[in-house]
Amino acid sequence: MASTLRTSAKEIENAKKPFTPPREVHVQVTHSMPPQKIELFKDLEDWADDNILVHLKPVEKCWQPQDFLPDPASDGFYDQVKELRERAKEIPDDYFVCLVGDMITEEALPTYQTMLNTLDGVRDETGASPTSWARWTRAWTAEENRHGDLLNKYLYLTGRVDMKQIEKTIQYLIGSGMDPRTENNPYLGFIYTSFQERATFISHGNTARHAKEHGDLKLAQICGTIAADEKRHETAYTKISEKLFEIDPDGTVLAFADMMRKKIAMPAHLMYDGNDDNLFENFSSVAQRLGVYTAKDYADILEFLVGRWNVEKITGLSGEGRKAQEYVCGLTPRIRRLEERAQALAKKNKKDRMVPFSWIFNKEVLL
Ligand SMILES: [Fe+2]
Ligand SMILES: [Fe+2]
Repeated sequence: MASTLRTSAKEIENAKKPFTPPREVHVQVTHSMPPQKIELFKDLEDWADDNILVHLKPVEKCWQPQDFLPDPASDGFYDQVKELRERAKEIPDDYFVCLVGDMITEEALPTYQTMLNTLDGVRDETGASPTSWARWTRAWTAEENRHGDLLNKYLYLTGRVDMKQIEKTIQYLIGSGMDPRTENNPYLGFIYTSFQERATFISHGNTARHAKEHGDLKLAQICGTIAADEKRHETAYTKISEKLFEIDPDGTVLAFADMMRKKIAMPAHLMYDGNDDNLFENFSSVAQRLGVYTAKDYADILEFLVGRWNVEKITGLSGEGRKAQEYVCGLTPRIRRLEERAQALAKKNKKDRMVPFSWIFNKEVLL
């Protein structure tokens, strides 16, 4: 199938103007951590060396995308590609919408490295800074870089998706950035990354499970392998936040409550393909319907983190800190109740809405 031939009116319009991020962002708050707390992160250098860098894998022990893909230097290449495409035939379009959305999210990695390097006290000041925080960020990025690479090459070989539309979406997304509202504040930043790594662990785990159900064990292995990396990264980031809870419980519980009040935005929330103004919402709806990443997962992650950091048991908090503690500890059941109500309402008003996705040649998928 050729790339979508028709150019829409919107695409023609977009071609006339220089690049402008197509989606609204919030008022930008910067440097919300008091500058004296930067010292605290400097003091944690050795701790991070011993406790965080150990969660990275030596490159020589890491998997590489090529381990899961047909080998272009081998005689069997064409047969391997043929087999891959045969297996992909059994997979429905809505699954591919989720996998493409996940791949695009991974491919916007330059944005996530930038985001980490906005954080005061832990940023890579030079691009090759020897601090443990900077080494972590670079090596984390290098590990993550394999995720988008592998999914991109796999999807390309399936022949099931419109690569040009996907590539455009990636370019738009990297150009737009993200708006996680972490305010250069590492307390907020590490709450955000703890949440997000777990979210990606869950969604890649689910695409692995579904690939297996569709009979594609190789794709299941690809998604499962990526999920395992995310789990390791989650362990590291939750450990950093755990340490912050230990040395500054008040500041950390306030940061946790602040991030949850603002709601954790998904990293690819500004995605756009040049056409669909609701692309991210539509992709999220399909992911919700298929059970790849759902509102229930959001509540589950929150519940997990509250337990992981023992938030209910923290003592000696200030008045404000206690309020923040109460807020985050009571939030999971509240989100679940709201979610159940929203689901019931959606069921009542259910109209089966089909939406085209440019990623799959404008074929329509049920939301
Ligand atoms: Fe990833
Ligand atoms: Fe990740």
